[in-house]
Amino acid sequence: MASTEGNSPLPEEEQRRILESWARLGPLADLFALTLYRRLFETAPHLRNLFHTDIGTQSRRVFEAFTGAVDSLGDWGRIRPILSTMGRRHAYAGVVAGDFEFLRRALHRTLEDLLGPAYPDEDRIAWDRFFRAVSEEMVSGLRSVESEAKGCDTTRFFRDRGTPPV
Ligand code: HEM
Repeated sequence: MASTEGNSPLPEEEQRRILESWARLGPLADLFALTLYRRLFETAPHLRNLFHTDIGTQSRRVFEAFTGAVDSLGDWGRIRPILSTMGRRHAYAGVVAGDFEFLRRALHRTLEDLLGPAYPDEDRIAWDRFFRAVSEEMVSGLRSVESEAKGCDTTRFFRDRGTPPV
């Protein structure tokens, strides 16, 4: 793994690459999120059913969450608990750890679509590391919900009360 500065998951050079491409994407915020969802649903159409909020509102939330993570690149400790909580919420929304691989690919395709030649291999490597760092925190929150659910024996709860589970 490349050496990193401070508590950042990315070395300074890669942080700079992310900040520069994110600055380019700023004016394309809506297009970024809409393209990301389009690319995600192309390869994982089953995920569409998990969304209940209108796509415009959801797109803004996702763009803001990415912006928060990009802005925290130099101070990763600040965003880690927030990402973990977001991961927990995603578990309740029906997302599983394996879904993040679909989103990783959708993110690269979105960046190719929107940045074209301004998305060289070096940027791709930086974005990949960035997305994996975000996913790692979110998935740890998501898994904590899964293991809590496993520890909750609902069958026994119903049996002890003589009420069969429906
Ligand atoms: C494949 C991975 C992911 C899937 C399938 C997914 C799916 C979802 C779903 C189903 C919701 C609830 C929407 C609703 O209530 O209609 C949601 C909410 C949200 N997602 Fe994701 N998501 C993923 C990854 C991410 C990532 C990587 C981020 C940003 C870093 C993100 C940011 C958000 C935000 C900000 C919300 C709304 C607030 C919240 O519920 O925490 N999601 N997502």
